Amino acid sequence: MFDQKRKTNVTRRGFLKTTGIGSLGLIAAGNLRIARGANVAGSDCLKVALIGCGRRGLGCLRDRFAVGDNVKLTALADVAEKPLHSAMDLLKTQEEHKEKLAIDEEHLFSGFDGYQRAIESCDQVLIASPPGFHPVHYAYAVEKGKHVFVEKPFGVDAPGFKICMKANQVAEDKKLTVCGGYQRRHQPSYLEWIKRIQDGQIGDIRSTRVYWNGGQVWIRGVRGENESEMSFQVRDWYFFNWLSGDNLIEQHCHNIDIANWIHGKGDRMAHPVKCYGMGGRQWRKTPILPYNECGNVFDHHYVEYQYADGTIMHSQCRQINGCWNSVTEKVEGTQGRGEACWLKPDGGSRWDFPKKQNKNAYVQEHIDQVEAIRNGKYLHDGWHSSISSMTAIMGRMASYSGQEITWDAAVEKGSALFPYDKELTFETEPPVMPGTDGTYEHAVAIPGQYNPFA
Ligand SMILES: NC(=O)c1ccc[n+]([C@@H]2O[C@H](COP(=O)([O-])OP(=O)(O)OC[C@H]3O[C@@H](n4cnc5c(N)ncnc54)[C@H](O)[C@@H]3O)[C@@H](O)[C@H]2O)c1
Repeated sequence: MFDQKRKTNVTRRGFLKTTGIGSLGLIAAGNLRIARGANVAGSDCLKVALIGCGRRGLGCLRDRFAVGDNVKLTALADVAEKPLHSAMDLLKTQEEHKEKLAIDEEHLFSGFDGYQRAIESCDQVLIASPPGFHPVHYAYAVEKGKHVFVEKPFGVDAPGFKICMKANQVAEDKKLTVCGGYQRRHQPSYLEWIKRIQDGQIGDIRSTRVYWNGGQVWIRGVRGENESEMSFQVRDWYFFNWLSGDNLIEQHCHNIDIANWIHGKGDRMAHPVKCYGMGGRQWRKTPILPYNECGNVFDHHYVEYQYADGTIMHSQCRQINGCWNSVTEKVEGTQGRGEACWLKPDGGSRWDFPKKQNKNAYVQEHIDQVEAIRNGKYLHDGWHSSISSMTAIMGRMASYSGQEITWDAAVEKGSALFPYDKELTFETEPPVMPGTDGTYEHAVAIPGQYNPFA
């Protein structure tokens, strides 16, 4: 994918072609006209819908409202009734948001297909469902001509990546804006830090080291009485890799995105060409934790990625209580080093981004998108967001299998975790079922045995 001579990646259309993504015919001719949803200009009222009314969804809506433009919430969708109605009840109590609510009971959509009706009723959609659903929700939104904010990551597997890449092209052709939930890309400190790196202030880049080491994340608790397996897993989605992708994808993708940004030297299609790594679960297993806190995901991964120019990204992530924690990105150049967001050229003085000049990136990403929508400007985070998500997916393939994984093989042959071919209901059997001991231990990858292409 990387042109060694030009030291840059191939074009988007070339990329779609060489990965076989462009040949699948999803970029239908009918989708190529300018979408209606794209035509919200100036101070027109912009109708917004939210899909996934959980913690980030509500935070995302709050951050969207903070932009302060002429916006109305016209629909909410959530697979489950409880978060849907709790969200509506909460919003009604928030005095500061009252004038932004243009929503009635008819526009609260539950169920696995609720997202479709919510999307149809808006100009801009905020997608904050669990990661496994993102490719399908995103593709539907651009097919309907809507501006989209999609939380990271853009899917959990290679087939999901391909769906997102096609959706990216549809959005591009329809002149829709796409904001990607990788909020660091909109944060002044990162923008300035990476600009200085790319201006050569620490020479040529040799390697990056990126980390998301922390403790256990939230847990939703035990299965309800008579609760279906699908309902339980969707509620406790973090612990099932078909829904979260594993913590390497769900959480650490932020730091991996920064490494792609640095190594790409301004090319948003940049990605490593191969990787190898290791991982496992030491702590996230019964009887250390109750079985419902374990699912089938790992609790630590280490992956070494190589870019086509020979530079290296070392990536590590962990979710184990009581260990050394760090969430950051470090960079080594031929003439200096740095860490988000400072630089120290050899023999020179250290530069730090002035903290006072930083902005809340969660709000800034919405400010940038609204400005692009209203002024007809180009904003498309979908490309780098999909590629960074796929970079993390490739890392998981290496960590699960213990094998060297190339980008091309991962994209072309990487297997599906999410059941794209099934119409889901709460009665559908999920891709991972409990074993005879009631745990999901049998579905945990064993390096040396796991086949990421099966
Ligand atoms: N950018 C960031 O820093 C950041 C931070 C936290 C979370 N996130 C991302 O936000 C997303 C949501 O995370 P969260 O912490 O809010 O999770 P959450 O569990 O609190 O909320 C998810 C909501 O989606 C609903 N849902 C599940 N399946 C659905 C479907 N098919 N259709 C519609 N709704 C569905 C759930 O019922 C739940 O209410 C994830 O992709 C996560 O990675 C991003």
